[in-house]
Amino acid sequence: MVKKKAYVVLIIILGVFIYLLWSFFRTSYQIQQSVHNMDLRYQQPSADQQHIVLISQELDNPYWRSIEKGARNAADKWDMQMEYIGPIRINPDEQIRYLEKAIASKVDGIIVQGSRDPKLLSLLTKAKQKHIPILTIDTDAPNSERLAYVGTDNFTSGKLLGEYVANRMSGKGTIGVIMGSRSADNHKLRVKGFLESIKSYPKLSVKSVEESNISQIQASQMAEKMMRTYPDINVMVGTSALDGLGIIQAAENIGRESIHIYGFDNLKETKQAIQTGKMEATLEQEPAMMGYKSVQLLHQFFTGHSVKTQYFTPIDVLDEEDVK
Ligand code: BGC
Repeated sequence: MVKKKAYVVLIIILGVFIYLLWSFFRTSYQIQQSVHNMDLRYQQPSADQQHIVLISQELDNPYWRSIEKGARNAADKWDMQMEYIGPIRINPDEQIRYLEKAIASKVDGIIVQGSRDPKLLSLLTKAKQKHIPILTIDTDAPNSERLAYVGTDNFTSGKLLGEYVANRMSGKGTIGVIMGSRSADNHKLRVKGFLESIKSYPKLSVKSVEESNISQIQASQMAEKMMRTYPDINVMVGTSALDGLGIIQAAENIGRESIHIYGFDNLKETKQAIQTGKMEATLEQEPAMMGYKSVQLLHQFFTGHSVKTQYFTPIDVLDEEDVK
């Protein structure tokens, strides 16, 4: 009997192991294919078109797809050939490999999410030496050789949300924060700005800060754990596009629907959540405009015009009044 049980357990472990191995090879294959496709396309640029590359943080993330959409509109307008590439799941090293490849392929211009990673900074210098203009988008790489930054002023966006939360909560509350990533500058700046603005409200405090790795599932898991650990938390804030939605899921899972939830970005699901009262407000960014503007700036550069080094796109707080 005991032997039989051991066999069953062994078979289950073997099954799980084979599944994980299969998933690993499938993902590696998908990544290899996308890098390979990029190679193929780089070998066939059309004669008189500028060839530009947009490297995202996560290929199918709806926020990055909006950036892509805006960039494609501009690329069509100025007749450029644009490649949109990025890791399937957030992976800074892979992002850097794409950048390396784009520089080696001598494309005409690159748009990439910035960071302070020394590897990225040295690639920005290398690109400048090769006369390839690079724009940072969504997150800046300050003090680097990038041509310009296009995106939200992240510190101010955190501050704006903080002021809104403080007003709406009448200066009182215990807050839990789910941030997209502890290593990404945009999220660090958002949290910093948020803390700065609630500083002047002594009855408003942040109890805990956790990271979601920009995944809705992880946001939900971290939020659930946080709300269970600190039952006095009555306000939850998410700093990336899917965090607010993850927090809602967590609140529903543990029956804490009365919690006050604030998020970032204006995805369709986020606006619906505000309409139905599940979320109170969100800090709206303009990803499509970021994409459009960055391609426009590249066009400006290609046609010999000067380019400002920092282009902040508009931000706003969206609440039930705005989504009616
Ligand atoms: C951030 C992006 C991030 C996205 C993830 C946005 O708020 O600006 O950096 O990739 O959320 O969902």
